[in-house]
Amino acid sequence: MAQIFHPSTNTLSRVTIFGALFLIIGLLWLLAQINRSPYVTDVNVVRAQPVPFSHQHHVSGIGIDCRYCHKSVENSSFAGIPSTSTCMNCHAHIWTNSEMLEPVRESFRTGRPLRWTRVHDLPDFVYFNHSIHVQKGVGCVTCHGRVDLMPLMRQAESLQMEWCLACHRAPARFVRPREHVFQMDWVPSIDQQDLGEELVRKYNIRVEQLTDCSICHR
Ligand code: HEC
Ligand code: HEC
Ligand code: HEC
Ligand code: HEC
Ligand code: HEC
Repeated sequence: MAQIFHPSTNTLSRVTIFGALFLIIGLLWLLAQINRSPYVTDVNVVRAQPVPFSHQHHVSGIGIDCRYCHKSVENSSFAGIPSTSTCMNCHAHIWTNSEMLEPVRESFRTGRPLRWTRVHDLPDFVYFNHSIHVQKGVGCVTCHGRVDLMPLMRQAESLQMEWCLACHRAPARFVRPREHVFQMDWVPSIDQQDLGEELVRKYNIRVEQLTDCSICHR
């Protein structure tokens, strides 16, 4: 009897099956890349603000401490955004003719707060707390990048679960002495692992519990 299928179709079907497999793997890889891309995570995206406030000017230029404006970062879950009167402590006296500062003066005259657009914004089902991170020696720069070099605020890290967990699994790689939390240019030295492990003990960091779902989803 004559063959219906030529023997070469065996090879052909194998190639097609493998081809489909590779195509699916390729698509999954692409999806993973998109999920990590700035398009999804908003990393480095600058937002329109009522006033183009520069951390670079105010932090490295003038040397103002983070806590002057983000007053509650050490003792509350929320870091706090400065009120207009905080800006006016200085801008009632200096740069009083600046066009750029008109929205600040208007807000002060009318009592209507400036409406800053949020740059970092976790979904509502995630619990986050600044004060505990500050208490346990996690530096602002570890999560927010070199804020002191940013002319305009942008998000430095993805803030995805994977990113939080990378530290919660091994905090010794990241923690620093508490007194350096606000220091932007502090860099870990080569003995970070030893120092980190010492601090994990000293600050009583409960490493075993830090990856429990209920820590962040409560
Ligand atoms: C003179 C006041 C001032 C000082 C000092 C200051 N900030 Fe800010 N910060 C602001 C204002 C105003 C905003 C909101 C506008 C914006 O996002 O640019 C802000 C926004 C931020 C945001 C983003 C908030 C969001 O919407 O997600 C972070 C993170 C931040 N500051 C970190 C820091 C750190 C770290 C320091 C110290 C190194 C610091 N800031 C010092 C005034 C200040
Ligand atoms: C401790 C004093 C101080 C505080 C508080 C302060 N600023 Fe300033 N700001 C300055 C100084 C000084 C300059 C000029 C810096 C420079 O050009 O080197 C300046 C410059 C600026 C400029 C640029 C103005 C221009 O025309 O170039 C803007 C915008 C600004 N500040 C916004 C703000 C806002 C918004 C706040 C409140 C969140 C604030 N500042 C709080 C001292 C301050
Ligand atoms: C462990 C990582 C981490 C550290 C350390 C950290 N932040 Fe944040 N910060 C975040 C996250 C995440 C958000 C967004 C919170 C949200 O959406 O609820 C945020 C938001 C902010 C905001 C916006 C207001 C708010 O509270 O939501 C400011 C301002 C801020 N951080 C300043 C600081 C300063 C100043 C420090 C250093 C003392 C600091 N952060 C340390 C992760 C961190
Ligand atoms: C660079 C390290 C680091 C990163 C990044 C980090 N954390 Fe943490 N986190 C810690 C440390 C250290 C503690 C303190 C643990 C302890 O005291 O046992 C902590 C504690 C917490 C707690 C416990 C608070 C409490 O009241 O018990 C929550 C919630 C939390 N982190 C949420 C987050 C979330 C959400 C993210 C990501 C957006 C994040 N963390 C990113 C280091 C980090
Ligand atoms: C250290 C904090 C932290 C811990 C611990 C944690 N998560 Fe999350 N989780 C997050 C953050 C932050 C997001 C938001 C991610 C985003 O916005 O992309 C998230 C998002 C999620 C989502 C939504 C889908 C997604 O991936 O965005 C699910 C489901 C989830 N977490 C389940 C869990 C489970 C199950 C556990 C325990 C095994 C857990 N999480 C532990 C921080 C945490």
